[in-house]
Amino acid sequence: MKRFAVIGDPIAQSLSPFLHQEVYHQLGLDASFEKIHVKTNELHTFMNSNELDGFNVTIPHKQSVIPLLDKLNESAKIIGAVNCVKNGKGFNTDWIGFLKALEINGLDLKGKDCVILGAGGAARAIAFGLIQAHVNSISINNRTQNTAKQLLDWIHSFFPNNDPSEIPDVIINCTPLGMWPETESTPMTLNEIKPNLILVDTIYNPIETQWLKLGKEKGAKTIGGLDMFIAQGLASAEIWFGGNITDKVDISALRAVLKQRLI
Ligand SMILES: NC(=O)c1ccc[n+]([C@@H]2O[C@H](COP(=O)([O-])OP(=O)(O)OC[C@H]3O[C@@H](n4cnc5c(N)ncnc54)[C@H](OP(=O)(O)O)[C@@H]3O)[C@@H](O)[C@H]2O)c1
Repeated sequence: MKRFAVIGDPIAQSLSPFLHQEVYHQLGLDASFEKIHVKTNELHTFMNSNELDGFNVTIPHKQSVIPLLDKLNESAKIIGAVNCVKNGKGFNTDWIGFLKALEINGLDLKGKDCVILGAGGAARAIAFGLIQAHVNSISINNRTQNTAKQLLDWIHSFFPNNDPSEIPDVIINCTPLGMWPETESTPMTLNEIKPNLILVDTIYNPIETQWLKLGKEKGAKTIGGLDMFIAQGLASAEIWFGGNITDKVDISALRAVLKQRLI
């Protein structure tokens, strides 16, 4: 039996075991998936001693794991963050999950003017995804101006970024504003939400954030973070097992399993 896991601190809240166990169940794979609480001062020992066939990495280790790996794939190297490891090699599947989630929801990003709210790790992975999808422009809106500028400079170092139009097409929330238990918070005011916008949230707990609810009421198209979470997990499974898993699984059944765990 193959053994996989997700490591992080905290880790108790992680939904990854439910996602991967359902994938193994659907595809008849002989594998297990557990969550392992690894504190910052335990990461080095974990990396030297674990006998897993692969693992996901979450907060706060996505960057600090890098010096402890033998090599990185190209996108993880550019993004500077790893959320998936196999045989000492680090990968980033967050940007793949983001693009796949938009594809599942029928959204073509090509030529779109995009605004990212936030400038942390998820924002950087998503900016990389937007560049791969040939958007027209990426703007950053962040609480800390200096961090926004750093992310924008990084984007401009390999993406020309055409002039953004005054009203964007797509806004992506990469802040924790609206995440359980602070479910009344929103990253934008009601007045700022326009009917023809596409609002994409990375948050999946709750499944539909207050921001998305308000957006829907105003006529915006909305996409929640659950599909991105599912797709990053499936992209990780494809790295561990090889071959196409995303097209073989029943995504509605995966959604249903995870929704049950979020109630
Ligand atoms: N669906 C998925 O698969 C998936 C995958 C990865 C991440 N995510 C989600 O993405 C979100 C961000 O994660 P991350 O890893 O990028 O976190 P991070 O690196 O800590 O970045 C957090 C960002 O949010 C901003 N922020 C935090 N608290 C804020 C507040 N009270 N008001 C305004 N801005 C605030 C921070 O601004 P400052 O720079 O000013 O501190 C920073 O830009 C989380 O909600 C996470 O759940 C989802």
